[in-house]
Amino acid sequence: MTARLASVLLAACLAAASLPAPAQEKKAESAGPYVPTPWVIVDEIMKLAGIGPGDYVVDLGSGDGRLVLTAVTRYKAKGGFGVDIEAPLVAQANESARKEGVADRVQFHVRDLFETNVGEASVVTLYLLPTSIPKLEVRLLAQLPAGARVVSHDYPFPNWPHERSVKMDVQEKIAISGTTRTALYLYVVPARIAGTWELQLPGASPKAPLRLAVTQQATGATARAGTAERMVDVTEIAVHGADVRITLPAGVAGPKPVTLQGKASGNVLEGATDGGRWRATRQGA
Ligand SMILES: C[S@@+](CC[C@H](N)C(=O)[O-])C[C@H]1O[C@@H](n2cnc3c(N)ncnc32)[C@H](O)[C@@H]1O
Repeated sequence: MTARLASVLLAACLAAASLPAPAQEKKAESAGPYVPTPWVIVDEIMKLAGIGPGDYVVDLGSGDGRLVLTAVTRYKAKGGFGVDIEAPLVAQANESARKEGVADRVQFHVRDLFETNVGEASVVTLYLLPTSIPKLEVRLLAQLPAGARVVSHDYPFPNWPHERSVKMDVQEKIAISGTTRTALYLYVVPARIAGTWELQLPGASPKAPLRLAVTQQATGATARAGTAERMVDVTEIAVHGADVRITLPAGVAGPKPVTLQGKASGNVLEGATDGGRWRATRQGA
């Protein structure tokens, strides 16, 4: 090889090395094979989620689309969408939506469920491998609005306590999971109330508001309340959808314990006690 040819080849190699690598499509991780939910279970899922006209339903891993289609055609949900990585299933589901006359309100997309934003859903349904369910827990809790419901078929979330479960025996499940046993788990998304709040109680001086410091995880919330000088654990804090209930122990807001019930809306918590209205605003928001 001549010196000239070698230098031309070297220049070509260097030029190739500096080119951007061809865009690589990230392959979606499989959350489970296609196994349709038996129809009798589809019905139970609809009932457990309490699907009705106000709902927008999302099925993550939607297969032939039966969950979203049933929600809209039989349970009168206003709309919804499904995602699946199998293009032929997505095409079949969209064709069914067209035949059932709901294609304007129901769409199915070829999309990775782990990359799907579900923020507009009021109900999410899942029938996925037990290894995939934990990966969705934090995502769903972060994206869904307070009060949204999630129903998981057969496998519960590891940390998020379920609201209700239904156990049933279904013969068709033997071919799927080797047993008739079926479990459905219902979850309700709690309002996100983590942070420090300034708490104004009825009759208290606005110049001396109390502080409420809330920590929240999938497992639930804990809180401390008091003044800058003295914070103590609250006796109780429960968040259910947008509903909040907090009991301050004796000594925080007077000689007796005080229970505050109300609603969370963004950076405000408010409600009524016997003595009038209470309100808390999130600090630094
Ligand atoms: C057990 S089937 C459930 C089908 C439907 N939800 C039902 O209950 O009848 C799981 C579905 O998830 C789909 N799936 C698996 N991994 C996925 C991923 N990463 N993104 C989107 N869909 C996925 C499969 O193709 C399959 O259709």
